[in-house]
Amino acid sequence: MTPARPTPSLQLDAAGRLKHLLTIEGLPREMIVSLLDQAETYARAKTRKFPTLHGRTVCNLFFEASTRTRTTFELAAKRLSADVLNLQVAASSTTKGETLLDTLATLEAMQVDMFVVRHEASGAAHFFAQHAGPGVAILNAGDGRHAHPTQALLDMFTIRRHKQEFAKLSVAIVGDILHSRVARSDVHALSILGCKDVRVVAPTTLIPPGIEAMGAKVFHTLEEGLDGVDVVILLRLQKERMVGAFLPSLGEFHRDFGLTRARMKKLKPDVLVMHPGPINRGVEIEGAIAYGERSMILQQVTHGIACRMAVMTAILGKEKSR
Ligand code: NCD
Repeated sequence: MTPARPTPSLQLDAAGRLKHLLTIEGLPREMIVSLLDQAETYARAKTRKFPTLHGRTVCNLFFEASTRTRTTFELAAKRLSADVLNLQVAASSTTKGETLLDTLATLEAMQVDMFVVRHEASGAAHFFAQHAGPGVAILNAGDGRHAHPTQALLDMFTIRRHKQEFAKLSVAIVGDILHSRVARSDVHALSILGCKDVRVVAPTTLIPPGIEAMGAKVFHTLEEGLDGVDVVILLRLQKERMVGAFLPSLGEFHRDFGLTRARMKKLKPDVLVMHPGPINRGVEIEGAIAYGERSMILQQVTHGIACRMAVMTAILGKEKSR
């Protein structure tokens, strides 16, 4: 498959409404705020079940491993009363284009309304969106190193629940920025929401070219990168995406870039420690602080359900037209 060049406009219809969710890049600020507001409504609701997607079918199509994202998408769809299909597709190196299109056509024949897609190729979700039938929605659940828009939404939701104004925050994203779709989507979301101090902290080998143009400042030491920050977002070293030597050793990475109890003491007392998961204890984070007092890691998981419900509602929660 030749990855489709990501075009943010593909996800909006002529009236500017969300049709697919492929990337955070290019989304209007008001749309992100309204998705977070809708997620807040779901998170606070006394009931867990809503009729919004009754009669609709959502298919989870995961070509890559996932724990949190897949299950919270499933729960989100079920809490909105949709029928849910889960397809665990093992990643394969065969002719991806044909495989993807055949899979899409087959599932569309089952009248699926929405596909939640995770794929190792950057651009895979766009490819699906370009080939999906009319009225069929695509949600990107992570495509290669490119984007993970619902993770960015749940990260913004988590920050917003604890902090006042994005414009006043300093946020540092630490670790394997190069291979991380979460880093890219978070940088876009933070910039759109008005955060003026977005930092990426990593060894030179793990900083992607062009990240500064996206609005992030680059740091190569934790001491400087974490100085005065309100939020630290830690990332896993994505060994499955690494070819060649990016690091001398995991031990050295932990020594220079791992968040430890000792380093926590130098941070603001009300700092938020976040991580999209899965965590690698003793690498990017010391085990003892993973679920410590300042850790938002499990809240992020919980918030993922409400945020994914909000996205599904924005796209499918209207009159059925097909
Ligand atoms: C991330 C992903 O898959 O991009 N995890 C997630 O969705 N919660 C980050 C990772 O795999 O390290």
